[in-house]
Amino acid sequence: MKVLVTGGLGFIGSHTVVELQNDGFKVVIIDNLSNSKIEVLEQITSITGIKPQFEEFNLLDKPKVEAFFNSNKVDGIIHFAASKAVGESVERPLLYYNNNLGSLLNVLEAMLVSKQDNFIFSSSCTVYGQADVMPITENAPIKPAESPYGNTKKIAEDILNDTTNAHSLNAIALRYFNPIGAHPSAKIGELPIGVPQNLIPYVTQTAAGIHEQLSVFGDDYPTPDGTAIRDYIHVVDLAKAHIVALKRLIENKNKTALEFFNIGTGKGSSVLDVIYAFEKATNKKLNYKIVPRRAGDITEAYADTTLANTELGWKSEKSLEDALGDAWRWQLQQK
Ligand code: WQD
Repeated sequence: MKVLVTGGLGFIGSHTVVELQNDGFKVVIIDNLSNSKIEVLEQITSITGIKPQFEEFNLLDKPKVEAFFNSNKVDGIIHFAASKAVGESVERPLLYYNNNLGSLLNVLEAMLVSKQDNFIFSSSCTVYGQADVMPITENAPIKPAESPYGNTKKIAEDILNDTTNAHSLNAIALRYFNPIGAHPSAKIGELPIGVPQNLIPYVTQTAAGIHEQLSVFGDDYPTPDGTAIRDYIHVVDLAKAHIVALKRLIENKNKTALEFFNIGTGKGSSVLDVIYAFEKATNKKLNYKIVPRRAGDITEAYADTTLANTELGWKSEKSLEDALGDAWRWQLQQK
């Protein structure tokens, strides 16, 4: 079985490539290295002992995408390639709409032309905005996006809905909660460019002395300790969810042409919970201060994972402390 992984040298993509290879799949990666490093390819190879086929080009280059699908028959496509910085998307919306939606359209059109099927899409819980009910099920209302980044995920799901209705394409959109951690080998992990916007890389960089202090964005939320709650899922557990979703399509077990699954742990953790868990997992004291809320942040989001558990037969296995310990060991590998 051969699988195309777009954005396969990125954070979630690289961990998914490792799990695909562990599961016996042949993997071909397309990545334009805009938010990843070529060294990740050799790190994947050193973990699994198998070097994935690698094609370096931009999915916005439509002739290149068509040529790839004409010369590569694959059993499935896992589409990670996208820009994903929320703040940057607010400053540069057209970059996000063009990159995230243009690349998606090129891949889908080439799939239809070359009659290739089985599409796994990297979506996000951000489509729910601040959901009214916790935990969040797949039937929770889709809310107006809080950022152009989030809107590209929402629009992409609409594109998949219309395309799977009109053509014989089967797709699963995995709505990730908050992916964190790194591979236990500490050979691959998150590689934030510049100052990290996300909590966990900022935590590990503060513990490593790269930053003086972590700012906790707000302790006046209506939550038990006043800090915002998220569902932090280990990136290896998240990667494994892609394998079961892909197999569901390859084995024609999907019940509708487009399916959605919330991929989280089902457990909410506050920012302070994360800090205490990090200190416990690493025996490192973390220097932090409370500052005002960050604009656009929601109070609370954690997944109802019943559908993924029952339909996909998948559930997360690693704990918050496992993920924080792995993130720290990965941080220690950084020059
Ligand atoms: C988590 C919590 C912050 C940094 C975003 C995207 C989402 C997905 C994951 C791509 C919040 C707090 C953070 C810091 C802090 N990205 N925080 N100090 O905002 O839940 O989700 O990243 O798919 O789509 O929206 O993740 O890690 O930025 O923040 O206190 O220095 O940590 O306020 O409560 P978020 P995050």
